[in-house]
Amino acid sequence: MDIIFSDCTVRFGARTALHPLSLRIEGRRVGVIGLNGSGKTTVARLINGLTLPSGGRVTVNGIDIATEPERARLEAGFVFQNPQNQLIMPIVSEDIIFGLKARGTKNAEAEARMAATLRRFGIENLEKRRVYELSGGEMQLAAMASVSALSPRILILDEPTNQLDIKNRRLVLNAIDKMDEDAVVITHDLDFALRLPRLLLFHEGRLVADGAPEETIAHYRKVAGC
Ligand SMILES: Nc1ncnc2c1ncn2[C@@H]1O[C@H](COP(=O)(O)OP(=O)(O)OP(=O)(O)O)[C@@H](O)[C@H]1O
Ligand SMILES: [Mg+2]
Repeated sequence: MDIIFSDCTVRFGARTALHPLSLRIEGRRVGVIGLNGSGKTTVARLINGLTLPSGGRVTVNGIDIATEPERARLEAGFVFQNPQNQLIMPIVSEDIIFGLKARGTKNAEAEARMAATLRRFGIENLEKRRVYELSGGEMQLAAMASVSALSPRILILDEPTNQLDIKNRRLVLNAIDKMDEDAVVITHDLDFALRLPRLLLFHEGRLVADGAPEETIAHYRKVAGC
């Protein structure tokens, strides 16, 4: 992936959620950490044009998210912090097929891609399950599969192991390890963050550390005072 933030700011009314950010994200896996409200989700939403910059520019694999938001969304798929907000159809397979058809995929092709994606994530057993009956881990995997089925080159995962028990956490982390897509992963899971090659720290809307996970986490403990 090649994501470039050039002097990018985000303001919500009088509140500045992101101070001028210049940053290039390359490689297969990058993590983002920081306290609640530090700007992580704001940065993630910029990557696929869900939030537009108040100033500056963001490009994703060469696509400007402000001028070509539709293409940016195809390039980078976003898995929400709360996957139940993402899965809109009642049955897992229907949700995946709905997304594919909305992008013009024909019936037979959509069915085949749905089945292949469930296999890829190891959740064929969830195909006919009702979304509201899924456990947290199953819901997270279904949401990731639903976005991945649309073949983005980058997946942005916003706290994928949030609220998961030790077993579901393992399932989701294994799925992330195996994914073909490049990924930007926002997380409060520092054990997982330690395994990433590069880790960014946001604090009060500013990028304050960027490097090896051990160093970024040490910086995090300092700014958090614990
Ligand atoms: N749509 C919005 N309108 C107004 N303020 C917003 C909006 N979205 C985010 N903010 C504010 O911007 C700041 C950064 O929020 P953001 O959601 O990026 O934080 P975060 O680091 O993802 O936090 P968390 O760990 O709690 O998910 C917060 O102060 C938040 O209240
Ligand atoms: Mg967030």
